[in-house]
Amino acid sequence: MSEKLWEPARMAGLVSPGGAIEKNLDPAFRAELAAIDHIPSRVVTALTDPKPLDINMPVFNAILAAQYYEVIAAIHPPENLRIYEPCVGASPPVIFAAETYSGGAASYFTINLNKKLCAQLRQKIAHLKMKTQIVEENALGALKHLEPKSFDLACFHHAVNDILQTAVSEPRGMDTTQIDWFPNERQMIEWLAEDARAGRLETRGKPELMQIVGDAVRLVKPGGHMIFDHFNWCRFIGVDWFPWDLFYNFIPMTREWIAASSLPVREIRLDGVDPQWWMVLEVL
Ligand SMILES: C[S@@+](CC[C@H](N)C(=O)[O-])C[C@H]1O[C@@H](n2cnc3c(N)ncnc32)[C@H](O)[C@@H]1O
Repeated sequence: MSEKLWEPARMAGLVSPGGAIEKNLDPAFRAELAAIDHIPSRVVTALTDPKPLDINMPVFNAILAAQYYEVIAAIHPPENLRIYEPCVGASPPVIFAAETYSGGAASYFTINLNKKLCAQLRQKIAHLKMKTQIVEENALGALKHLEPKSFDLACFHHAVNDILQTAVSEPRGMDTTQIDWFPNERQMIEWLAEDARAGRLETRGKPELMQIVGDAVRLVKPGGHMIFDHFNWCRFIGVDWFPWDLFYNFIPMTREWIAASSLPVREIRLDGVDPQWWMVLEVL
């Protein structure tokens, strides 16, 4: 795709009833979307960063899949692509995008710790044609399960914070495998903020993130790609416990850490894709 990515009218078409993305969503999600009016204007809101207060969540979730779909189409992997995604939780935009791009011919592998979120994900993707595999483990052990140079694409969908939060919370005694993730997330974020303020991310947080990213580089074939995204919610502006600047800069911070490493990657800039919130790398 040589045109500008994420053009709102085209994105609205992808997620509206009968659109390429919409057709691959799970039945409950499709039913939710079918009840929503004024999709084109809600798409514009969903594409805005940081994410506005009046966002419509089903449209937003569908748009995330559409954004991944257009980025994948732009980097143009083989139709039977193999995808690795650490830390998927119960969020399937990458999976829906891959199903749409490949017509079900892709295969997908995730390593994910939280048990309840894994169970929710299984329900959301049960209808898909493509092969999916979920391993409930720490992504720090990815190379125990997966062959180097065997994937076309690795995706870190809003996962930088997840990896950092887990890295600072497990040593403090929180079992992030068993907990209900969202009611405990504020505590994880407060610990992350505390460690960032104290300059401790270099010793806890950064090593885990960089190992998982480095292993993903090793898993992807030369010429393959990695996609990272993050977004911030406007509702956290001015919230005293929320480290806005840290979260605002997760992609630039990860870009800097990767640039300072010796990992064999180069960044690709795509028209329409804001480097504050997205990063696409080619593995060399
Ligand atoms: C809230 S979910 C988020 C899912 C998705 N990344 C998103 O933001 O939409 C966070 C998931 O990342 C997983 N996770 C965090 N660190 C991990 C690690 N080191 N290895 C495997 N899974 C991890 C958690 O267990 C949880 O299932």
